[in-house]
Formats: sequence, structure tokens, C-alpha cells
Amino acid sequence: MSSSTHQVPLVPLAGGVQIPQLGFGVFQIPPEDTAEITTLAFQTGYRHIDTASAYRNEAGVGQAFRASGLDRDEVFVTTKCFNTDQGYEEAKHALHASLERLELDYVDLYLIHWPVPAHDRYVETWRAFIESQEEGLVRSIGVSNFQPAHLRRLVDETGVAPVVNQVELHPYLQQAGLRREHEERGIVTEAWSPLAQGAVADDPVIARIAEAHDRTPGQVVLRWHVQLGNVVFPKSVTPERIEENLRIFDFHLSQSEMEEIEALDRGERIGPDPDTFVRP
Ligand SMILES: NC(=O)c1ccc[n+]([C@@H]2O[C@H](COP(=O)([O-])OP(=O)(O)OC[C@H]3O[C@@H](n4cnc5c(N)ncnc54)[C@H](OP(=O)(O)O)[C@@H]3O)[C@@H](O)[C@H]2O)c1
Repeated sequence: MSSSTHQVPLVPLAGGVQIPQLGFGVFQIPPEDTAEITTLAFQTGYRHIDTASAYRNEAGVGQAFRASGLDRDEVFVTTKCFNTDQGYEEAKHALHASLERLELDYVDLYLIHWPVPAHDRYVETWRAFIESQEEGLVRSIGVSNFQPAHLRRLVDETGVAPVVNQVELHPYLQQAGLRREHEERGIVTEAWSPLAQGAVADDPVIARIAEAHDRTPGQVVLRWHVQLGNVVFPKSVTPERIEENLRIFDFHLSQSEMEEIEALDRGERIGPDPDTFVRP
């Protein structure tokens, strides 16, 4: 894979696959708009797309890829197995259905979307993931919204660790303990809702740092993420933001600016609690 057009670093995942550190998230982009907006993202320079069967817009992502003229190995595509598709057979079926909607032969990263401990099916789902990777249908396998206990159980029962854990993470929910756990296990942290769904744009501390760098608050927060080592994929349907969110690799936050943002943590979730979430 090439490193894309805006010096987006490639982060190595366990197993040798590399992921562009900044991508484009398509959650809440209406299915009928997804092909057009994802096409704009490709034209702007994004080479990593984060979708999910639950977003109901995988088909639009696939259409945009085919229209892009890019080679398959120039683009990194993540999709996810939803809660209702957990289980060994169900997960295999769900992956085939996702590949059909995407019209791809493989995805670069396949994630268990939520652990759903109440159903207790994530270990058998993971066994299906391991086989799907061996079959070449996915290049790498990971999880999302897993807590330390869920990670531990996967590794203990299958011997295979996820290469990433995609969790809610932004200045108001910094997940320091979970990030440490990831580091110890060689798991890359992916940060969902990296901009706290836009709320960081109104933060006075972030606004002050942004002004000092002649950047926007969104750019400062994305820069904070990449300096922490997180993989991010902000979502936007606004052309100017799609552009600005990619332009974060030509400035640097100082240690004291990183610490000022660290001090904004208040353990505040936007999304559901991963220990109890079953379905929307
Ligand atoms: N695994 C999971 O359970 C899970 C859950 C949630 C999200 N995700 C993934 O994470 C991706 C991103 O999360 P998200 O969409 O929830 O939230 P986000 O990226 O933090 O924020 C998106 C919101 O912020 C606005 N925005 C974008 N760029 C901005 C900027 N530079 N300045 C100010 N506002 C800006 C967008 O508005 P406009 O669109 O109007 O420009 C949109 O309302 C998703 O698309 C999805 O791929 C995963």
C-alpha cells in the first residue's frame, strides 16, 4: 500500500499488515449519499475507510472505490460484524454478505463491533474470524468496544490477539488504562468519535491551542490523537472539513499542549457502555 497523498503515516499491525493512521469514517452518512461523499474523500487523499454492516452503507463505499480508479492495494477498508450476527456460522455468513455489498474479494480489517457479553458469543465469533483470515477473506482481524476482561478472554481461549481495539476515545474520554493494556498486548488503539462528534470545536482550551498554531480545533484534536499513536477516522459530510481533517501532518503539538489536552479528560462517554450494550 502507498502512504497516500498527504504523508499519512502507516502504522504496523501485528501480523505485518500496515494501516494508514488517518482514515475516513462513514457512520451516519446516509446510504444514498455514501458513494458521492466517499468519492470526495478518495479525491481529497483518504486511503482508509471505516464502515460497518450496521451503517447500511457498505455498498456506497464499494461504489466509490470502483469509481476511484485506485488499485485495491492502495486502499484500506475496514468493516464490522454486528451484534445480531455474532456466532460461528452467523459471523461467516455476515462476512460474505459484507463482501458482496462492498463487491470486494477481501477486507483489510474485520472487527467484532461490540462484545455483547450478555450473549456470550464473542469467542465463537472470534474463531470464525481466525478461519476467515486463514481463508484470505480478511487481511487482519480485530475488535471494537472490548474491555480488558473481554480482550483477556479472547487471548486465553483462542491464543490469537486482536490487532486493534476500536473504542470511543477523545479529549473527554481518554481511556488511559485501556491504552496501556493495548500497549502491553501489542494491540493498536483505534479512536472512534475522535472529535467527540464535533463537541471539541467549542472547547476554549482547544480553541486557544488552535489559534496559536493557526489551525482549527478539529485539526488540533486529530493531531493530539496521532501524537498519542491512535489510529483515527473522523467523519464529515462537509467538503472543507473533509479537507482540513487530512491536513494534520505538517505541524506539531508541544509536550505542554499535549498535557493541557490530557487535563480535559472527564471520563465522559457519548456512546453506549460496552459492558451492557446489546443493540440499538
Ligand atoms: N466502533 C464503533 O462502535 C463506532 C462508533 C461510532 C463511530 N465509529 C467510527 O468512528 C467514525 C467517527 O466517529 P463519529 O462519526 O461518531 O464522530 P466524529 O468523527 O468525532 O465527529 C463527526 C462530527 O463532527 C463534525 N466534524 C467533522 N470534522 C469536524 C471539524 N474539523 N471541526 C468540527 N466538527 C467536525 C461532523 O460534522 P459534518 O459531518 O456535518 O461535517 C460530525 O457531526 C465513524 O464514522 C465510524 O467510522 C465507530
